Amino acid sequence: MTTRVLTGVTTTGIPHLGNYVGAIRPAIQAAAQDNTESYLFLANYHGLIKCHDPEMIAQSTQAVAATWLACGLDTERTTFYRQSDIPEIPELNWILTCITAKGLMNRAHAYKAAVDKNVAEDQDPDFEVGMGLYSYPILMSADILMFNAHKVPVGRDQIQHIEMARDIAQRFNYRFGKEIFTLPEAQTDDNVELLVGLDGRKMSKSYGNTIPLFLTPKQRQKAINQIITNLKEPGEPKFKGESPIFEIYQAFSTAEEYAEYERALNEGLAWGEAKKILAAKIGAELDSKTEVYNELMANPARIEEVLQAGAEKARKEARELLAQVKDAVGIRKLG
Ligand code: ADP
Ligand code: TRP
Repeated sequence: MTTRVLTGVTTTGIPHLGNYVGAIRPAIQAAAQDNTESYLFLANYHGLIKCHDPEMIAQSTQAVAATWLACGLDTERTTFYRQSDIPEIPELNWILTCITAKGLMNRAHAYKAAVDKNVAEDQDPDFEVGMGLYSYPILMSADILMFNAHKVPVGRDQIQHIEMARDIAQRFNYRFGKEIFTLPEAQTDDNVELLVGLDGRKMSKSYGNTIPLFLTPKQRQKAINQIITNLKEPGEPKFKGESPIFEIYQAFSTAEEYAEYERALNEGLAWGEAKKILAAKIGAELDSKTEVYNELMANPARIEEVLQAGAEKARKEARELLAQVKDAVGIRKLG
């Protein structure tokens, strides 16, 4: 039996090394496995939840799409599309909204975190809480259930949403007496270490401590030179925990290569030298991809073509499933 793997990426911001190591590289590897059908999409309707800057949404959609393509996503094997090109998704979203208990949404972490923050700051609990944030797990359920996904690779923060999608699917199947929806499962990777950013915290757009994925070698060296270290001189032993460069190098090398790098630092390699070696290592993996990325970014029509072809494949399936769902709930032609 083939396993269907589906995941979405919210289109806010420009991809960084953490996104690449934690999500993009493993997803592309997983899609290449035998007996796997993969669905990968740009969640631009999810982008609207947190971002109301139209240029940012549009630019990020282009950058994220170009990133996946430049990193080797095989569009023959993967159905690659933009959420907003599949109008069946918001249609399904509404039908699912009508069968979802409000109490389930009250328990969603992202909404609860926003309310808790307001309460802690003596604000009205609903201050700046949009309906998009509140019902976002339902839209995510529609994304997943529309394509009968078995596995949904996500970061740990998203597990609850997949469980909600499962609940909603079960409720629908039970209420309408049909096994229309497949029950999805979250897939998290215990081995994926969170990549550390310039300042030693998790690399994240929200902390402004990222190294963007696609840079010229000069820009990349400059970014890497900003990674924190301590004041140890060349010749003094340097250890893991004293700078994030250890973890970043590890994410781009084999176990043997990393062991050698760590040993050289332990034996006194200068921070400056170690940063040059790190930049070269990352460059070896990303320079050719950067060229492809830049070509794609200069040619948005080419990206659009790829997305349209993906949308066509995805819509064909979405239409069939939505027709079954509508029929099940009694939305039918007369006569
Ligand atoms: P950010 O924290 O920069 O806003 P997102 O929340 O958009 O990142 O995450 C997109 C994907 O990249 C998710 O699958 C997430 O698990 C992964 N990711 C984000 N930051 C890191 C990191 N520092 N190390 C590893 N994976 C990461
Ligand atoms: N909410 C996810 C995130 O912020 C992105 C997303 C939207 C998603 N729809 C999805 C992930 C469906 C997996 C499946 O990371």
